[in-house]
Amino acid sequence: MIRPMHSSAPSPAPLVDSFQRQITYLRLSVTDRCDLRCTYCMPERMQFLPKADVLSLEELHRLALGFIARGVRKIRLTGGEPLVRRDMIDLVRALGRELGNGLDELTLTTNGTLLAAHAVALFDAGVRRVNVSLDTRDPELFEQLARRNRLADVLVGIAAAREAGLRVKLNTVALRGRNEAEIPDLVARAHEQGMEMTLIEVMPLGQTDEDRIDHYLPLTEVREQLETRWTLADIAHRSGGPARYVDIAETGGRLGFITPLTGNFCDGCNRVRVTATGQLYACLGGAEQVDLRAALRSAAPERALDEALDMAMRIKPERHHFRVDTRGAAPAQARHMSVTGG
Ligand code: 5AD
Ligand code: SF4
Repeated sequence: MIRPMHSSAPSPAPLVDSFQRQITYLRLSVTDRCDLRCTYCMPERMQFLPKADVLSLEELHRLALGFIARGVRKIRLTGGEPLVRRDMIDLVRALGRELGNGLDELTLTTNGTLLAAHAVALFDAGVRRVNVSLDTRDPELFEQLARRNRLADVLVGIAAAREAGLRVKLNTVALRGRNEAEIPDLVARAHEQGMEMTLIEVMPLGQTDEDRIDHYLPLTEVREQLETRWTLADIAHRSGGPARYVDIAETGGRLGFITPLTGNFCDGCNRVRVTATGQLYACLGGAEQVDLRAALRSAAPERALDEALDMAMRIKPERHHFRVDTRGAAPAQARHMSVTGG
């Protein structure tokens, strides 16, 4: 149970980094665990964090309130898979109470496997949009990619979310020789159902059992492919993230491209990431890190948290330095996406 908390302290300074970017968006991982094992994300025998290292629900709540007090207006809960954490919905409810009270939006990134059971509760807590990862609609390919036979659960989860009133955006990692040929169909199906879709280039984060370079598919190439079939018009729409969007005349839908490797998008960065153990990463592609758990567990947690956030602003780098992996090379960052939550 989380009790409502109200701080009577004078409103502290907004979070502005040394490149004058204001941080208004927090991506908060509530667990590094996941019920899938996507091959590009983690090895089959993934070493998860000891549960004792993970922040309690109450700590996650205090941490989020500390960010809201410093001007964060959007929070995305991520994982691993956020819905595998049993008390997760209590955190959603507690943060939902901050909506309209400093917080503009509370969202979730999920793999969808457990969405059917939680969709209504998420909506009731104030969530209005969720991002669901869907790399294929082919059950066999899904099982090959995620190493688990769960496509049906994901599709039921997406339907349940829509029925509950949540807007669903699909995230698809583009993979050479895997879902490459299916991408146009995935786009068409999403748009038929009135869902937005965003394509993502696979990023060199964490050791997996395979060499990602074998499946790296530059989105410049995907776009050329799609243009042989449809009319793509660049639009100025921004979702507050790194995606660049096009409208597709023939499908009447919107498609996003997240291109960490073929196009840099760091200029407008408005976010930081916090892992389930309270490590703030100032950049998805960098090692710059501040320990917020130590601040939360110190003698004067509120002040320590504020100081830690100030430190984060000083060390946030200007841009990430992802490069296309060379074969056999170590990943750019040793930690997995499931640690920082994408
Ligand atoms: N590169 C790109 N995307 C990744 N994801 C997980 N690992 C990687 C990676 N190495 C994606 C998931 C999900 C989102 C949170 O991040 O498929 O859509
Ligand atoms: Fe789980 Fe997402 Fe990683 Fe797949 S990509 S294993 S769903 S955390």
